[in-house]
Amino acid sequence: MAANGRAVLVTGGAGYIGSHAAKALDRAGYRVVVYDNFVAGHRGAVKYGELVTGDITDLARLRETLRRHAIFAVMHFAAFLDVGESVREPAKYYRNNVGGALTVLDAMASERVQPFVFSSTCATYGEPIETPIVETHPQKPINSYGETKLAVEHALPHFERAYGIRSIRLRYFNAAGADPDGELGEDHSPEIHVIPRALEAAATGQPIDIFGEDYPTPDGTCLRDYIHVADLADAHIRALARLSQGGASASYNVGTEKPSSVKDVIAAVERVTGKTLTRRSAPRRPGDPAVLYASAQRIRQDLGWTPKHADLDSIVRDAWRWHSAHPHGFGDRS
Ligand SMILES: NC(=O)c1ccc[n+]([C@@H]2O[C@H](COP(=O)([O-])OP(=O)(O)OC[C@H]3O[C@@H](n4cnc5c(N)ncnc54)[C@H](O)[C@@H]3O)[C@@H](O)[C@H]2O)c1
Repeated sequence: MAANGRAVLVTGGAGYIGSHAAKALDRAGYRVVVYDNFVAGHRGAVKYGELVTGDITDLARLRETLRRHAIFAVMHFAAFLDVGESVREPAKYYRNNVGGALTVLDAMASERVQPFVFSSTCATYGEPIETPIVETHPQKPINSYGETKLAVEHALPHFERAYGIRSIRLRYFNAAGADPDGELGEDHSPEIHVIPRALEAAATGQPIDIFGEDYPTPDGTCLRDYIHVADLADAHIRALARLSQGGASASYNVGTEKPSSVKDVIAAVERVTGKTLTRRSAPRRPGDPAVLYASAQRIRQDLGWTPKHADLDSIVRDAWRWHSAHPHGFGDRS
């Protein structure tokens, strides 16, 4: 087995996507070390691997962790990700998303740790000029969240040249769903993503806001590419395997290539939960492009990745199973 019990540091491993990746790494035979400061993560989400409580801006702690656990590779999930907040508080985003990521890379350079898998985002593309979005599409973010992720992408070739750190940048589209075994799920607070918000609306009978119904799309609502979190985790395992075998640095979109509208999501939630949602029209949110969906041809070809849970109903079904079994998330919300 390629993994052979080698240790991987998972920054942000107490968060939504990182916790699912930690499970996938464990299943693939790696030793997992989760590194998180719990600013948004949950102790209950750390079910796989050892936990180190620490901040990604703490160079000494990172270096000590890399050494003590004989880490051979890093998956870097830790970041802030609320687009609206990033516009209001760019300093907070630059400090954590850029400063933190560069500190992790600095620690890796000092401790001679090499492969790096980075959580990037379709937000680095900004307003698309062509869909589906291919990796060579111009990257012109329209908010500071996207800018912070792009800044790290731009730093990576320099860290490779100087310190030999090869990296794969995975540009996720809309992460969604939950662990198909029902062990892990999404617990953001406040929740900014449409599927958990629609599930919450189904559970409580509260209305679901639709932000804009006059977009130039077939039903007037935004089109997005929802990618199951287990398929994202699988993309990480494949990226790490490629880098471990000496593969070259690369950037990949991770999406299903299928656009779904907000109204499609609501219809799927109604089918899965058997409840009828009350829709409430709300104004467009600034910075929401009408259409965002991926071409994932590159990752299919290079890494043999293919989404196994691509249909919206199965994504919503897994999310609903976790949501209904954990109405208060991991139970540690303040
Ligand atoms: N959720 C999505 O749809 C989506 C889409 C594209 C990209 N991403 C990226 O994926 C990554 C994970 O997203 P998520 O949805 O799992 O978010 P999340 O908030 O659930 O997880 C992030 C984790 O990082 C930790 N963290 C944040 N700052 C830290 C710091 N300074 N030190 C240590 N730990 C810190 C948090 O406590 C949390 O556990 C992020 O980098 C995000 O930008 C997410």
